[in-house]
Amino acid sequence: MGSSTHTLEAPLVLGIESSCDETAVALVRGDRTIVAQAIASQEAEHAPYGGVVPEIAARAHAERLAPMLAKVMTEAGVALGDVDAIAATAGPGLIGGVMVGLVSAKALAMAADKPLIAVNHLEGHALSPRLADAGLGFPYLLLLVSGGHCQILSVEGVGRYRRLATTIDDALGEAFDKTAKILGLGYPGGPAVERLALEGDAGSVPLPRPLKGAREPHFSFAGLKSAVLRAKESGAHADADICASFQQAAVECLIDRLARALETAGPFPALVVAGGVAANKTVRAALEAFAARHAMRFTAPPLALCTDNAAMIAWAGCERLAAEGPGFAGDPLDFVARPRWPLDPAAEAVRGAGVKA
Ligand code: KG4
Ligand code: ZN
Repeated sequence: MGSSTHTLEAPLVLGIESSCDETAVALVRGDRTIVAQAIASQEAEHAPYGGVVPEIAARAHAERLAPMLAKVMTEAGVALGDVDAIAATAGPGLIGGVMVGLVSAKALAMAADKPLIAVNHLEGHALSPRLADAGLGFPYLLLLVSGGHCQILSVEGVGRYRRLATTIDDALGEAFDKTAKILGLGYPGGPAVERLALEGDAGSVPLPRPLKGAREPHFSFAGLKSAVLRAKESGAHADADICASFQQAAVECLIDRLARALETAGPFPALVVAGGVAANKTVRAALEAFAARHAMRFTAPPLALCTDNAAMIAWAGCERLAAEGPGFAGDPLDFVARPRWPLDPAAEAVRGAGVKA
């Protein structure tokens, strides 16, 4: 635990992200300045396998992290002694990768006598819209849509999250990835499906809207994925039409489930979307229109902050410092990396909710 006192107005936090297939480092100030950042994707390493291979991911993080840290610090002209805290993703995610980032952060924190901040990766996504939008206050309704998670949360403050819904099988990003795989579009699938959907007719392939109208606001995408497989195997449809129809079905499910969550837990002053699928323009447009219909402010972080990155981890560290106040000495240096780490510990476990964030 570090003993340094941080400047609470605008602390400088070093962030490390390594929970999936992006190795990322960032320096962020409490005044929302991203001082420097670097990100290295492992897409090329995992592409031959059609998904992330945990062992390959962990090795790649281990090879890349130290030189990336050096590069970011040098470029920013920042020494370790100038940093107020060191934040790293401590879960949930692929545990080998998480350990690489967390152990590195512990070593730096110990060497420089700075506080360590163990960040929940999902909290990084959940708070990232506040890095981009200074006017976004608590509470807000959050749609977190990534490769491993599909949740609706009530964000009530730093560390205060209430889960209103989750997926009972696949996450939406996973459904995008599987659709891409079925159509042979490669990995990662989301951007490829979105691109091809531009050339297709969204009304041409009849696909289900799983759980639409259900009382609980939960999600389900496994049936949609199976329907995509059947549509492909039928040979009756162009791939672009399947992509456009899939995207349309997914968006309709999102909006229906959000409307249900709003009925049960609303009203909320703002709707926020985060996670990799938030990069999808059709998803964004539908959410923006939904927010407008319900007189909610709408915030989506810029694309680079939607997919995994370290700025959101450093920012979560800034938020944590501000929330804990001047006496905060950091998380214990023996903090254990967590493969699973729900944002709302009180939420009941739902079968099928993913590990990947
Ligand atoms: O948050 P993220 O970078 O990683 C984690 O899952 O933690 O999200 C990655 C997911 C992948 O499933 C990817 O296919 C999806 O986000 N994604 C997209 C788009 N860009 C990324 N899905 C739909 N449309 C996109 N443009
Ligand atoms: Zn993520």
